[in-house]
Amino acid sequence: MRHFLTGSELTSSELAALLERATELKEAPESSQVLAGKSVALIFERPSTRTRVSFEVGVAELGGHPVVLRSDEMQLSRGESPRDTALVLSRHVDAIAIRTGPDELVEQLAQYATVPVINMLTAGHHPTQALADLQTLNENFGHLNGLTLTYVGDGNNVARSLAILGRTAGVSVRIASPEGYELEPVAGAQLTNDPREAARDADALYADVWVSMNDDPHTAEQRRRALEPYRLDEQLLELAAPHAFALHCLPAHPGEEISEGLLYGERQRIWDQAENRRHAQKALLELLIG
Ligand code: CP
Ligand code: NVA
Repeated sequence: MRHFLTGSELTSSELAALLERATELKEAPESSQVLAGKSVALIFERPSTRTRVSFEVGVAELGGHPVVLRSDEMQLSRGESPRDTALVLSRHVDAIAIRTGPDELVEQLAQYATVPVINMLTAGHHPTQALADLQTLNENFGHLNGLTLTYVGDGNNVARSLAILGRTAGVSVRIASPEGYELEPVAGAQLTNDPREAARDADALYADVWVSMNDDPHTAEQRRRALEPYRLDEQLLELAAPHAFALHCLPAHPGEEISEGLLYGERQRIWDQAENRRHAQKALLELLIG
């Protein structure tokens, strides 16, 4: 029984196999019924468009039953402990996936659950996003080892998961953030304050929102001012390799962290990336509970 909380649970060979499987599932989405007769709880304590739909449809495509739970409808919101929630859900479902704020809550669920627990985004990590991002690189380049992926912006959950899973996949991850918004050192990731230096000759450039859902909304204006020089736009992409393209986990704010031209233009794989959430997560579900 294995959990997927940060992505560091996977070995390089497991990750490579998962990404290959994701590509097979993309080509034949109805080909696996590995979750027939099984159920997966999908708990949302924060808003979601892509994660919600890609997990719910993905579980159904695998023949399973997704049980979507909003936390305000659960006793968790009235003080029932993560421990008791984990113990009870484990009697009914075959995996528990959760989107929330505190990483500690997911760790507590994992400690007491007797079924796999999957992190669908916390303040600290967004590992299922990174799986889809790596699948998108893999399907474009035919390999991952030796690629350079540059993330520009806040040193947040998405940046951290790219650093962790990128290293496992053999991708060089560079992260350019303003002072005060840097990621802590993560093994293998190159951190800088200079977005132009980080973009140079990269194979893909990556943006995320400047204000995350677990950030204090009172700091939003301050964050936007600090992150203004870190916009992913045509000028920055010019510094990258000629074949490079833009990535963004979405939701996007065109004109803020990414230019509208890049978001809807030819030199992006952002909408493929959003689709790949479903395929990569199905491969993960096969690995954990198949
Ligand atoms: N990228 C992502 O996780 O999107 P949602 O917040 O819409 O799920
Ligand atoms: N960093 C963003 C990612 C959204 C998918 C957030 O946590 O809100």
